[in-house]
Amino acid sequence: MSKVIATGKVVKAFGNLLHVEFDGDIRQGEVATVRLGELNLKAEVIEIAGHVAKIQVFEDTRGIKLHTPVQFSSHLLEAELGPGLLTSILDGLQNPLEKVADASGLFLMRGVYLPPLDRAKHWDYHPTAKVGDKCERGDSFGYTMEGRFHHLIMVPFNHYGTYTLTWVAKPGSYTIDTIVARAVDEKGIAHEFSMLQKWPVKIPLFEGERVRGDKMMDTGERIIDTQFPILKGGTFCTPGPFGAGKTVLQHHLSKYSSVDIVVVVACGERAGEVVEVLRTFPHLIDPHTSEPLINRTVIICNTSSMPVAAREASIYLGATIAEYYRQMGLDILLLADSTSRWAQAMREMSGRLEEIPGEEAFPAYLSSRISAFYERAGVVALKGGGKGSLTIGGAVSPAGGNFEEPVTQSTLAVVGAFLGLSRARSDARRYPAIDPHISWSKYVDQVGAELDTFAEGWKGMVLKAAALLKEGDDIGKRMEVIGEEGISLKDMVVFLKAELYEFCYLQQNAFDKEDAYCPLNRQIALFKLIDKIFCTEYVFDNHDEARAFFLELQNMIRNMNSLQFQSDRYKHLFAQIEEKIQHVSKHR
Ligand SMILES: Nc1ncnc2c1ncn2[C@@H]1O[C@H](COP(=O)(O)OP(=O)(O)OP(=O)(O)O)[C@@H](O)[C@H]1O
Ligand SMILES: [Mg+2]
Repeated sequence: MSKVIATGKVVKAFGNLLHVEFDGDIRQGEVATVRLGELNLKAEVIEIAGHVAKIQVFEDTRGIKLHTPVQFSSHLLEAELGPGLLTSILDGLQNPLEKVADASGLFLMRGVYLPPLDRAKHWDYHPTAKVGDKCERGDSFGYTMEGRFHHLIMVPFNHYGTYTLTWVAKPGSYTIDTIVARAVDEKGIAHEFSMLQKWPVKIPLFEGERVRGDKMMDTGERIIDTQFPILKGGTFCTPGPFGAGKTVLQHHLSKYSSVDIVVVVACGERAGEVVEVLRTFPHLIDPHTSEPLINRTVIICNTSSMPVAAREASIYLGATIAEYYRQMGLDILLLADSTSRWAQAMREMSGRLEEIPGEEAFPAYLSSRISAFYERAGVVALKGGGKGSLTIGGAVSPAGGNFEEPVTQSTLAVVGAFLGLSRARSDARRYPAIDPHISWSKYVDQVGAELDTFAEGWKGMVLKAAALLKEGDDIGKRMEVIGEEGISLKDMVVFLKAELYEFCYLQQNAFDKEDAYCPLNRQIALFKLIDKIFCTEYVFDNHDEARAFFLELQNMIRNMNSLQFQSDRYKHLFAQIEEKIQHVSKHR
């Protein structure tokens, strides 16, 4: 029995929210098409009352009139999943942007929808199951190599129950929509599987057992890895005022984090920044594998000049693609910049729907949407063995840098690590502008225990450094009031040690070839050196002498940070620094 497709006509328009009178059955979240002559504009049903549906159009609504026809599709907003997603640059509706970049400028024309995945490309397919094998959703029955990854071909996640394979394709070269396996379900109904499947983006894609994460995601950013570590499968946010360095930090994480695949969602960012990403990304090299970074990356862009409805779609699309790869036992990082712009889109839509507004006119469901998004992170133990993880990090851009506003507060309530960027720091060009006095990570203990196994005493050293930083900050504040003379020499030394830690360890130059990425072994070596500086008892005659000594030490360490790790010059300088510390403590 074929389903009757519901149709309707526009009776009212309010921005990109249309009221549509319809006939037939429709459901919330289903995709509709607004027919504007030759143009078909995609939309989504967000509210149904009697025979009127409210739909939000993902595109510019110019030209829509009373009685413009609308057709409903009966399926939800879905992502296409299959080999070929990596390296692609998509918009929120999964249009491949780079394919049309030459033809129509960087962004698509209205109403143009292209298949996200290349239908003509052939993939080498290797079956791993045989006729008679039983399988369930998410079980793989074959694979193809997507770059260096085994891209598992899995029973589609929308197929529940047990399937018995009745036919499997021979190894060979196939397009993604070629049938590569046939199966019957428990009722004897036949099904066909290709390398392509679809999944509704707003529903978490998950199969297996949720387990606790226990591995650190190292980022090469010292302040994060040492003071506020992130766990694979965990969540974090980077709130910061305008221009504090959120985007630079997200780019850093997308390049250097120790994960297999990165999904970048540029949501509501400036078009110039997005163009910059598209230009530079394909040329960057992954420091872990020496392959082009784009080979492990999916980029989803919705600039601030594109309709707000598509921002929400890009966030969910990113999460779905990330979850799909997690099911292959890979470690995924999803970065969203910025979730505030997604929240603004929610607020705009809620206003049009005339919902009762919550705090700062955000809808009352703001925090539940935000937590549902971060809850898509986590580690899954797969049925067939192995684990996959999805780590989610979101930038938040609160107006005026006020962290008390609803988006930051809702995010804080759910994430495992908070990396707060501060205006004062970025103004002083202390990058990364993560403020160690307000930031925190719930993963410190877990990661500390992991690092203790190869950097003995790590946890203790980190706690000591954090305490010293706090003490130095307090002394600095006192000094602002009573002047340097009012501070004892002992306190002055504590202050100088804390400053050295700030300048030489916590700060890092994102634009220096060597310093931009500091791998864990290099961090550990530097941290041990700094710990030695902390532990040494110094004998100075006066404040000036102390200041001069620490300033020189600072310069030496910062120079060393720009040298290649373990190069001759690095080792030489390292030895010189050690000697200098020893000299000032002992030979006086
Ligand atoms: N780690 C860093 N090292 C050196 N310079 C930096 C660093 N981070 C940020 N900057 C400088 O600050 C500028 C603004 O940074 P960025 O665009 O990341 O801010 P943002 O917080 O994303 O701003 P917005 O809120 O407008 O999106 C950069 O163009 C760069 O010059
Ligand atoms: Mg930014």
